[in-house]
Amino acid sequence: MMFNKPEKVLNEIEKAAAAQNMPGNVVLPIIGREKGSVLENVVKENQPKAVLEIGTLVGYSSILMAKNLKKGRITSIEANKKNSEAAKLNIQRAGLSNKIEIINGDALEIIPGLDNKFDMIFIDAEKKGYMKYLKAAEQKMTKNAVVVADNVKRFEKDMKDFLDYVRKSGNYRSELHDFGADGVEVSRRIR
Ligand SMILES: C[S@@+](CC[C@H](N)C(=O)[O-])C[C@H]1O[C@@H](n2cnc3c(N)ncnc32)[C@H](O)[C@@H]1O
Repeated sequence: MMFNKPEKVLNEIEKAAAAQNMPGNVVLPIIGREKGSVLENVVKENQPKAVLEIGTLVGYSSILMAKNLKKGRITSIEANKKNSEAAKLNIQRAGLSNKIEIINGDALEIIPGLDNKFDMIFIDAEKKGYMKYLKAAEQKMTKNAVVVADNVKRFEKDMKDFLDYVRKSGNYRSELHDFGADGVEVSRRIR
């Protein structure tokens, strides 16, 4: 079977993740195809100009988004140096380096210095930090930006402040995409 370059790299990362994901030992926690389809659809439907991703890991979700982007660009922040190097390599192999910039560092330190206005945010880093990441990102977000957050069922307790905020503050119109054991929250900024 023939795959294009992004698909080939996505498949390789999936295989590596499956090989390492022994019960209780999640080494490569990529979003995966099923939950990733939410991310892909948000990109397809909105065609954002500038995406901010918080938590790159090895570039899987960046590649998933970038392959659906016609013109936009992604800025992705990864705290771990080794992960960010692996991500750069994977993105290069996927032929998507022109669409994705990887920044190595702590998102909370990097975000205030970014020049862009982002119309899409994808949050997938430390689970207790989602509210802090969003608050930092809000300073750089367009009025109608869309925020996607992974693991909102698996780590619901850790991100209760974030979920209460996007669901109840009136600042967002928020929807849970429920996949049973886990979920993805898509929140549209409305004010
Ligand atoms: C769940 S993984 C990201 C998975 C990736 N989005 C995907 O689906 O392919 C979380 C990543 O966030 C990174 N991370 C944790 N805290 C961070 C922070 N404060 N700033 C940037 N990255 C962070 C971790 O090093 C880890 O690689």
